[in-house]
Amino acid sequence: MVDPRLEVIEQRLAKVRHIVAVSSGKGGVGKSMIAAVLAMTLSRKGHRVGLLDLDFTSPSTHLILGVEGLQPEEKKGIIPPSAQGLRYMSITFYSLDEPTPLRGADVSNAIIELMSITRWGELDYLVIDMPPGISDATLDMIRLIKNIVFLLVTTPSKVAFETVRKLLMLLHRLEVPVIGVIENMVMKPSTYIRSEVEGLGALYLEAVPFDPGLEEALGDVERLLETKFAHGVRCVASVLEKQTP
Ligand SMILES: Nc1ncnc2c1ncn2[C@@H]1O[C@H](COP(=O)(O)OP(=O)(O)O)[C@@H](O)[C@H]1O
Ligand SMILES: [Mg+2]
Repeated sequence: MVDPRLEVIEQRLAKVRHIVAVSSGKGGVGKSMIAAVLAMTLSRKGHRVGLLDLDFTSPSTHLILGVEGLQPEEKKGIIPPSAQGLRYMSITFYSLDEPTPLRGADVSNAIIELMSITRWGELDYLVIDMPPGISDATLDMIRLIKNIVFLLVTTPSKVAFETVRKLLMLLHRLEVPVIGVIENMVMKPSTYIRSEVEGLGALYLEAVPFDPGLEEALGDVERLLETKFAHGVRCVASVLEKQTP
């Protein structure tokens, strides 16, 4: 039997021009920070932007953006509340700070449910903060969203990059477009990641520096956007805009 929600998802996303999944083979590399700051950056540039936190086990974009007490409105589906000018949807609206341990099939089901009830309306960009790894969520999103593109995040570490290499190869094999790879938390110049990324036929987007001031700016969007980190993300946003006319 075909799940009727799958067709609904297509309709829900019909007026969203670009869907960008921020993803990595690893956790702790800066996906959530990049997704949140990228969404804010695009929004400040005048785009209509949505942010979807899809990290079921460790949602964090609400902490980065400093938004509390939001609740989506129910109206023939769910309307994402506005957070710092973004249309914002997070699993935390439903998990209420409780841990949300879900198994494979439940993750799929929750994703399909969330995607089929959310009314994004008209957006230029929907940025998705993905859970780490090549998970069911990754495969589901590829399956459910035809025009999804990926933005991959690694750190300078080989340990992180090897997981990103696998993800990149998988996306290539599945013919899913990849905007490029961001090297985050760079502490000293090295060409290792750039040459590996280019060797795989992908675009090396930006070396985003390790920014010791970032932690203090958490939850304060104005301050966040002035960090060195945000400067790096702005360069990524410019490339993204060029690649997604
Ligand atoms: N460039 C950076 N400089 C300093 N700290 C960073 C940088 N990028 C991310 N962080 C910090 O590293 C931690 C992990 O980032 P996060 O975005 O939560 O990673 P992920 O979503 O990939 O698990 C957070 O505390 C975040 O503030
Ligand atoms: Mg995260």
